[in-house]
Amino acid sequence: MITTNTISKIKELAYTDSRENGAPSIFQIDYATEVATRLADLLGADKRIVQAGAYLMDCALGTAYRQGKLNQHVAMSHKKAEDFLNSVTDVTESEKGSTLNCVLEHHGVPKFSSLESEVVCNADCYKFLSIKGIVGGIAHMRDMEVDQLVQIFATKADEKWKALSLDICKKELGGQYDSVKKFLGSYTGK
Ligand SMILES: [Fe+2]
Repeated sequence: MITTNTISKIKELAYTDSRENGAPSIFQIDYATEVATRLADLLGADKRIVQAGAYLMDCALGTAYRQGKLNQHVAMSHKKAEDFLNSVTDVTESEKGSTLNCVLEHHGVPKFSSLESEVVCNADCYKFLSIKGIVGGIAHMRDMEVDQLVQIFATKADEKWKALSLDICKKELGGQYDSVKKFLGSYTGK
């Protein structure tokens, strides 16, 4: 079974890529994992799998961004997560498979392989659809022009609204999505 100690190591793996490459921010990693944990409690999903998946879903995003391979960040994060999970002894084959599926499916799929995978995908959406995600995300983003940053957040908001699948999340975020669109739209004048 995944231990607390392994969750701490997984968190450090995600933090290290963030510190070295600047994305996603520590704020975004922590926020998505906090939401994923809350949703797991509410919906009865396996909390350890959800936390491992949330920390690992973008664990190579910063590296991919720096190498100009942003569109490969899911595959790169999956490989890095797989290498890590193969290096520890307390994770069962079943837990390994479930966690890696969370990484692979975190941008949304027509049919999720598990509730845990769906929870991780939906939690990721909060980074771009909630007021807390937007304000915290902008405040902690490094090395980016403001115009470009606003454009990315506006595009991501639409993309993540489409990926959102859980009713509870649509209910929590519907009004905030509208506010985010108005707020970012006012900046760009669109
Ligand atoms: Fe991602």
